[in-house]
Amino acid sequence: SSHQTWGGRFAEGPDARVAAFTESISFETRLAPYDIQGSIAHAGMLAHIGVLTSAEFETIRDGLLAIDEQIAAGEFPWDPALEDVHMNIEARLTENIGHLGKKLHTARSRNDQVATDVRLWLRDALDHLIGEVDRLRSGLIGLAEREADTIMPGFTHLQVAQPVTFGHHMLAWQAMLARDAERLGQIRARANVLPLGAAALAGTTFAIDRERVAAELGFDGVIDNSLDAVSDRDFAIEFVSASATIMMHLSRFSEELILWMSPAFGFVELPDRYCTGSSIMPQKKNPDVAELTRGKTARVQGHLTALLTLMKGQPLAYNRDNQEDKIPMFDTADTVTTCIALFADMMPHVAVDSAQCREAARRGFATATDLADYLVRAGVAFRDAHEIVGNCVSTAIEQGCDLAELELATLQRFSDAIGGDVYEVLTLEGSVAARDHIGGTAPNQVRAAAARARAALAG
Ligand code: ARG
Repeated sequence: SSHQTWGGRFAEGPDARVAAFTESISFETRLAPYDIQGSIAHAGMLAHIGVLTSAEFETIRDGLLAIDEQIAAGEFPWDPALEDVHMNIEARLTENIGHLGKKLHTARSRNDQVATDVRLWLRDALDHLIGEVDRLRSGLIGLAEREADTIMPGFTHLQVAQPVTFGHHMLAWQAMLARDAERLGQIRARANVLPLGAAALAGTTFAIDRERVAAELGFDGVIDNSLDAVSDRDFAIEFVSASATIMMHLSRFSEELILWMSPAFGFVELPDRYCTGSSIMPQKKNPDVAELTRGKTARVQGHLTALLTLMKGQPLAYNRDNQEDKIPMFDTADTVTTCIALFADMMPHVAVDSAQCREAARRGFATATDLADYLVRAGVAFRDAHEIVGNCVSTAIEQGCDLAELELATLQRFSDAIGGDVYEVLTLEGSVAARDHIGGTAPNQVRAAAARARAALAG
């Protein structure tokens, strides 16, 4: 027989290549504290129902806590021959406390054990990530307040469309992240239920108390069906999906920052510490954090595809395929959390060049729609107003000037509805101030929206 925990029915141990192929310890040690937490709760329940004595429970618990400390200190001798984190810890426990360690796995399987570990890990990972998303939101709200009056061009088709305020733009980013944080919270709530008790797949013959274990581990309830408990990974898919959405948002922010930092735009500047240089071109200062974030978005999207594909062909209940959920899940958590944290650090330090932003809006005839609206208020039908303003723009292009620089007489050639007060609507400041309603870009609306966003973040 082999040395494996499950080796009783085997005539020989696994081939070396098989052992290396099937082990998961090389990528899952982050589950160890959760595995120990789950084992202590399980053992406590076994004592409660009389399967262990309370003295036995205490010895097991103390043995597990000692291992927990050793792992935290980085001194635990992980052994790939023991396959996974569960076997490593259990084998070590038995080595340390003797025969009693062999009783821990009563009424349990690695199938419900790993599902429990992963949910416990994910809960912490989500709490940390939500905290970082909120930190970024807070930074964006601060930036919005700081730049509530800063005029920049708003774009459609990446062509100058209408003036907006920089603060308004930052609050659009914040709104995306608010939904992301909400999604993560919903995923946490759905994932926070206990698989333990399902054992391998059908439940156990012992009179276990699952509610007790759930309460001990801070779960909101138990998973109702044992087959579902060991085989469901949609909680992981939801997490990676929400993370892919966050990355998609960050990637869009990145794309904009990269454009805005290009001297062709020159809207913003990042502190040197958030940029890198070129090995050949001495003048270069590159927005690599944004570029790498855009690049890493591809990985997380790939992880989502990997998990969906991993699950699509699996019959109930547990299959070893599920071990392949770890790397996509862990790498997703690491990637999205790192990117969000970097953005949270960086965004409050974005310096906005308000003169450049203003000039770009001015050059782009961004107040053309305001002129059309002015004509409509003077009784011109909108379609006719559109045509008239198009002619004004064409003349301004010919004269190489801005709409506001055209002579009144010139403007009046296109419509007698134009009066001397037209210049009020042609200014950038007048244009943004006029969009004065909930959701509009007027500076006072941006301030009010920032206050609402702050309250939502605090509540
Ligand atoms: N490492 C395995 C996983 O990640 C643990 C469960 C193994 N269960 C089993 N019956 N082989 O899924």
